[in-house]
Parts: sequence; C-alpha cells; structure tokens
Amino acid sequence: MTDFAATKSMFHLPDGVIYLDGNSLGPLPRAATARIGKMMQDEWGEMLITGWNKAGWMQKSTVLGDRVGRLIGAQPGHVVMGDTLSIKVYQALASALELNPSRKVVLSDNGNFPTDLYMADGLLRSLGDEYGLRVVDPDAVAENLTDDIAALMLTEVDYRTGRKHDMRALTALAHARGIITIWDLAHSAGALPVDLAACNADFAVGCSYKYLNGGPGAPAFIYVAPRHADKIHPALSGWLGHEAPFAFDLDYRPAPGVERMRVGTPPVLQLTALEAAMDIWDMADMADIRAKSIELCDLFIAEVEAKCPELTLVSPRDGDQRGSQVSFRFHQGYAAMQALIARGVIGDFRAPDIMRFGITPLYIDERDLHAAVAIITDVMGNALWDHPDYKIRAAIT
Ligand SMILES: Cc1ncc(COP(=O)(O)O)c(C=O)c1O
Repeated sequence: MTDFAATKSMFHLPDGVIYLDGNSLGPLPRAATARIGKMMQDEWGEMLITGWNKAGWMQKSTVLGDRVGRLIGAQPGHVVMGDTLSIKVYQALASALELNPSRKVVLSDNGNFPTDLYMADGLLRSLGDEYGLRVVDPDAVAENLTDDIAALMLTEVDYRTGRKHDMRALTALAHARGIITIWDLAHSAGALPVDLAACNADFAVGCSYKYLNGGPGAPAFIYVAPRHADKIHPALSGWLGHEAPFAFDLDYRPAPGVERMRVGTPPVLQLTALEAAMDIWDMADMADIRAKSIELCDLFIAEVEAKCPELTLVSPRDGDQRGSQVSFRFHQGYAAMQALIARGVIGDFRAPDIMRFGITPLYIDERDLHAAVAIITDVMGNALWDHPDYKIRAAIT
C-alpha cells in the first residue's frame, strides 16, 4: 500500500495553503532544491562540459522516460523526455500521418486542449489543401471514426471538466477502421493508471509539470509503440534524434527506436528536478492513487454540493468516468477563485466559468479537503467573491 502520509511529507507545501492545483503545476518535491543545488555545484560547476559524459546528462531523457513510462504502462525503452508537449503533439501527429499516407483527415474533439488543435492545424496547413482537421463533440468521436481518417488525436482527460475518454475502446475502434491513435496524457500521467501497451495505443504524449511534479517548464514525454518506432521518419529531425549525433554527418539518419523523437539539447536542470519527483513516484502505486483519488473527489463533490448550492458540478459524477480533478461552474468563477486563493485555497479558473480543483492523493488528504470546503462555503455563502479586486483578470488564470 502506498504510504500517503510519507509521500505528503516529501513535498514543500506552504503554510496556510491548501493546494488544489496540482493538475496544473505540481508542488516542489523537497529533495529537488538540494538536488539541483548539488547538480549545479558538483556537475555544472566542477565538471563543466565534461558533465555530458561524466554525469550522464545525455541519458537522462531516456532514463527518466522509462521512469515515467512505468506510470503509463509503456514498454521499457519506448518513452523519451524533451521539448514541450506542443512539440511532441506535432511530432506524433506527423508520424501518424506518415504511417497512413492514403488518408488525409485528422479527427479530434472540442474538449481537446487548444494547443493540440493549433499544432494539428499548423501541421496540416503545411502539408497541403487536401489535409484537414475534423473536430466533433467528445460524445460523438466513436460514430465519427470513418475510413477517410488517418489519425485520431485525443486528450484522454478533458482539461476543463475532467471527463475521461475510454482509451482502450476508442483505440480498438479506431484500429478496426485503419486509424492511428495519438493520446495526450497531460491530465492522465500521474492522475490515473494508464496502460498504453495493453490498450495498443500507437502514440502518446504528455507533460511532466502537472501531476508528475517536475516543476514549471519541465519537459514533455513521447511514447511510440514498438511496432512503429523504427518505421517513422521524424518531421522534426534534430541532431540528437540522429543515429550518430557526434559524427556530424550532413545527412539525417534516425536513431533506433523512440530516441529518434529527440530533437535538441535536453533541459538538464529540469530533468534533475524531475528525478526528485520521480523518487516520490517510485513510492507510489497507481492503483492506490486511483482508489484514493476517486474517494477524495467523491468526498469533495458531496461536501461542496451539500454546502454550496451556487456551484454546479461539471465533472462526471461517476469516478470511473473522471480524471483526478473536480470542476464546478459558477457565473463569477474567476472572482470566486481569486477570493479562494486570497484565503489560501489554490485552484484555478478556465474560461468562461469553470472553477477547477485538482485532487492529488500524493499530498492532499481528507483533512485538507474538509478545510478547503469550509473556506469555499464561506466564500460562496457570504458572496465574499463580490469585490472589485477579485474581478481584475491576471494574464494567467
Ligand atoms: C492537454 C494539454 N495539452 C497540451 C498542453 C500544453 O502543452 P505545453 O507543454 O506545450 O505548453 C496542456 C497544458 O496545460 C494540456 O493541458
């Protein structure tokens, strides 16, 4: 059994704060501060450029890829870290289209995160007029898997509502119609068990700054199914995805397997922070995380609904259909969230009217939720959000 009291003690959680935004940016693993300090001093400081060899900086992308891969059911050796999630979406989609050259349509849904749709649009425009993006309602994905579609690109858990797609069923349906699948796991990795190998997924991408707690700007990951990994020719053919980067050949030859999805120099400081986070993940079992997450989300929903009639649940009520967040709709959601943050309950807001609360069992427990609900009840019941200061929109919501 995962010892949640032990994992909680390994994070720095500021006094007076109940942090319900780990679905956006995970908190600081206590060990990360010393680890980065040591890396800077002993490795960057003392070893200088020799650190690439002596301290194994170059291997961190694949070593950490495997550690993340354990949480998402990837086969060892098939996940690599690097770049941002937007870049990884582009790479995965370009490769999926390459594997399905006679088809020209990408299917996605309007619950997807905008950057995924923007990246798809940019890629498809560069490929020519015969390519197109089809965006349907999340509920209508299955019935729209027609045989003109090359690739199905979905985010498993909706960033606003927490609604979860059935990855296994949709992947099987897509495959039956000759469609390649790309799954964005931004709100899945570290939130719930994912089994990419068992689902037979083709590509998966995700970030490490949310539930994985790698810190602001932490790198993304990409998974390529073993059956495709040596077949694809990366669209972003950077030197570190070359078979022999230090041969400095003028011709590109892809590295074996998923390493061809590397592009350029890895973010070593961020990867060092992620190592500290993954040490905590090594103490956790995803089945325990899922069970606790559903229990905590159910508790939060029941208490908020009992005490705050102003808030309307927009997340699925059934835990199996939900990620690890709970969202409510409120016409003054932005102001209400600012009022909560001012009182130490940190969640976030997504336009037009959604208040999101991330429920992360690694460091959030029942006591935190009871305390948070007391503050939410006060803010809602007494309309404490109705103050001009809370209505001024910051750049990041
Ligand atoms: C589903 C999803 N995809 C992509 C992104 C953004 O990716 P990037 O790391 O490139 O900013 C987010 C950010 O929250 C996201 O939720």
